Amino acid sequence: MIKTREHLCILISGRGSNLLSLIESCRKKNFPAKVKLIVSDNPKAPGLKYAKQYRIPFKVITKNFEDTLLKALDKHNIDIICLAGFMKILSKKFIRQSYRVIVNIHPSLLPKYKGLNTHQRVLNNKEKFSGCTVHYVNGELDSGNIILQSKVKIAKNETKESLEAKILKKEHILYPKAINKIINIDPYFIKIGGTI
Ligand code: GRF
Repeated sequence: MIKTREHLCILISGRGSNLLSLIESCRKKNFPAKVKLIVSDNPKAPGLKYAKQYRIPFKVITKNFEDTLLKALDKHNIDIICLAGFMKILSKKFIRQSYRVIVNIHPSLLPKYKGLNTHQRVLNNKEKFSGCTVHYVNGELDSGNIILQSKVKIAKNETKESLEAKILKKEHILYPKAINKIINIDPYFIKIGGTI
């Protein structure tokens, strides 16, 4: 029986399909976390509709992003920050000052294909497999310790679009699983903010 749930803040910039999968997982009875706050750096992020739909507090921050976010994290008692299609790079100073676990999802099998345009690069290199990774955020792009990965096979006629869709489906399963893992397997680790 779970008595307390960790508080998540989800950071988005766009579509928000990973945000939706986290919201839905958090609504399940035995999931050890709940979404307390949604933050976007983009006022037009389509994903903000999920905040409204599920009546979750949200904030659009376009100026002084990190300082404003720090205050909001304290106000909402946030334990874990989840980046979900969030396009800004958080500074090392922010990561230190936030005193919270920060995790990200990336659509490749890290450490391969860090950064943008991953699917096209994977196809150009004629890889046989790709996938997605949930990892801790450490101030270097897509480089923190890996929490979980999921692999997909690349089909003969694979396109950038079909690969993206195939991996996105896996992402929606992997992200909640990774949150569950960091909370249940090492609750002490999470409290000391072992993100680096
Ligand atoms: C996902 O592919 C995620 O791995 C990457 O950006 C995309 C965001 O998609 N970091 P969505 O906004 O969650 O739909």
